[in-house]
Amino acid sequence: MNTNKTSIRAFAPATVANVACGFDVMGFAVESPGDEVQVTLTDTQGVTIKEITGDEGLLPLHPDENTVSAVIKSYLKHIGKENLGVEISLHKKMPLKSGLGSSAASSVVGVYALNKLLGSPLTDEALLPFAMEGEMLACGAAHADNVAPALLGGFVLVRSYDPLDVIKLNTPAELYCALVHPHVDVKTKDARSILKKDITLQKAIVQWGNVGGLVAGLMMEDYDLIKRSLHDEIIEPTRSILIPGFQQIKEKALSLGALGASISGSGPTTFALCRGREKAEEVSIAMKEIYTQLAIESETFVSKVIKSGPQIIS
Ligand code: HSE
Repeated sequence: MNTNKTSIRAFAPATVANVACGFDVMGFAVESPGDEVQVTLTDTQGVTIKEITGDEGLLPLHPDENTVSAVIKSYLKHIGKENLGVEISLHKKMPLKSGLGSSAASSVVGVYALNKLLGSPLTDEALLPFAMEGEMLACGAAHADNVAPALLGGFVLVRSYDPLDVIKLNTPAELYCALVHPHVDVKTKDARSILKKDITLQKAIVQWGNVGGLVAGLMMEDYDLIKRSLHDEIIEPTRSILIPGFQQIKEKALSLGALGASISGSGPTTFALCRGREKAEEVSIAMKEIYTQLAIESETFVSKVIKSGPQIIS
């Protein structure tokens, strides 16, 4: 990176966490939507937020409460530059509280941009614990299944949290994702609090069989194995009650030939993984139609599952 540069603009993608069977341990990045940030070095000490657009005034501007600035402050402390002057402009280009990893995209994009601006004192992988702090601030749990794919791109497996062990998986070339976001409110904190704390051995066996199958299917680019493995025995049955029309939408996506469909992160967005863009377009239209019939406003996104993570725009 040019050392004379004092400002940088970057993008980080939305992500689908859990991917049906992999609660808190799997996620993937999509090409769009995502968040953009402009990070500028200033002569005034400390981290400030100049502006946030696209959030309808919902996000805090206080540097200790906002995920982008809180993550940046923690990163600066770690690299011994806590007195550096940093000004942030965040441009939300995706819906908040949607289950699309909005807080993760913000947590990742700021620290990624600043690290590049400073000449990459840390590797991209080493930024992950800081981005996880942003998740802790946003929803009370430092889960990595959104921030890891937002930072590293593609499909990611969190093999372990303690110690942190994140594995980047293969991303099959023909995988596309249809997303439908109904305009209903589901908070990650609430969607986590309703989950049962114990599961039966029988359910665990089904679940880890599918996680293994999904990882193997991705690595071998075996679309049929991916399809057989996109099943959630544990989380979806409990959480889907928070999402109107979920069963109908899922059944429709499967009947049209989606490889699988489930809740994106903690919802309310539903994702459907498809082979090819055309199929994903068809599925997204049908999913939206169901919400129209239910008189619930919604928006859809169709995107390639991308191998890359954040991008420097300028
Ligand atoms: N794994 C997290 C959850 C993702 O399902 O609660 C939140 O987006």
